[in-house]
Amino acid sequence: MAPKLFLTGGTGYIGGSVLHTLATAHPDYDITVLLRNIPPTFTTTYPRINVVLGDYDSADLLAAHAAATDIVIHSGDSDHEPSLAALLSGLRRPRPSPGYLIHLSGTGIVADWQDEALLGKLNPKVWSDVSSLGEIQALPWTALHRNTERILHAEAAQGGGQVNVAIMCPPDIYGRGKGLGKARSAFVPFFVQEARRVGRVFYYGEGANTRSWVHIDDLMRVYLRVVEAAVAGGSAAVDFFNGNGYYFAGTQEHSHLEVARVVGRVLHQGGVIEDPEPMQVNLEQLDLMLKPIMPGLSRYLFASNSRTRAERAESLFGYRGEAPRLSEALPHDVLDCLH
Ligand SMILES: NC(=O)c1ccc[n+]([C@@H]2O[C@H](COP(=O)([O-])OP(=O)(O)OC[C@H]3O[C@@H](n4cnc5c(N)ncnc54)[C@H](OP(=O)(O)O)[C@@H]3O)[C@@H](O)[C@H]2O)c1
Repeated sequence: MAPKLFLTGGTGYIGGSVLHTLATAHPDYDITVLLRNIPPTFTTTYPRINVVLGDYDSADLLAAHAAATDIVIHSGDSDHEPSLAALLSGLRRPRPSPGYLIHLSGTGIVADWQDEALLGKLNPKVWSDVSSLGEIQALPWTALHRNTERILHAEAAQGGGQVNVAIMCPPDIYGRGKGLGKARSAFVPFFVQEARRVGRVFYYGEGANTRSWVHIDDLMRVYLRVVEAAVAGGSAAVDFFNGNGYYFAGTQEHSHLEVARVVGRVLHQGGVIEDPEPMQVNLEQLDLMLKPIMPGLSRYLFASNSRTRAERAESLFGYRGEAPRLSEALPHDVLDCLH
């Protein structure tokens, strides 16, 4: 019988890409997607995908669908606790064999943005999704995404008795999304937006703060392998879930200044800014950026380090970057923001 999957965030950059990847690679899967807005071309593009109308606060609906599903892929809002609780409660209901939950988190959890002394500087700390897992599980409550990861680690600690858990923890992502909704990632559009507002690309401190990156296509290869392991189930899934189920996905890292120089050149060539050279901003200027969206977001995105190694996927299936590297793809992503 076809495996039953329930996916959220199917109009998002990441979730839409996951949906497209699965629908393309496995048209035999029985997929249901939760949407609060249905794109006009959704049913013609994905005639075999079932749609359920609802949002993350539709707790009963989420629980009922999770209960009737083999694999839940929760991918729209990494911090939304009520939806996670509802999905877990549905998956925990009596079933012939334990279900699977593949939850989207992010490497914001290990970013050093809350330590002012490190902003703009290179932090030598590099996190592994294998050897640093204990340290990640002990991060303070104030770390990004820690509120949901703590729930997932507690579930995973039960070793798949009721629910098998995988936590997908991508770094900054680039490249065009594959879904019908949002096709742009977060970092580049935010950086371009602020560069246009202040008239120059910018950096804080030394601009040496460094972050890991992954192309959306490479990230989708990790998702595909983890979903396929859940579909295979049994012993094939043991290596991919619970104590073994934490996934970084970065394929490269870049300092902020490296990224700012490329963005500056592209914006200058496009006639958007006069001076392509990055300028230094002070903390007050930095803190004004993106403040209405979330205080501290600019420190996190533009001045913090978040250096991670995808060692688990590398050891499981020889994962390494195959898609174009950031230096190649960044000009397209920047131009995409101008249209
Ligand atoms: N992009 C990155 O570089 C990156 C990297 C690591 C982690 N993350 C994390 O991954 C998560 C998703 O990122 P993204 O870039 O894919 O975001 P996105 O493009 O904004 O997509 C969000 C998706 O979730 C849906 N959604 C959000 N809140 C919902 C709610 N209350 N009820 C129903 N649907 C809801 C949206 O539906 P609508 O279309 O109806 O709005 C959309 O489908 C975020 O929490 C982000 O922090 C992102």
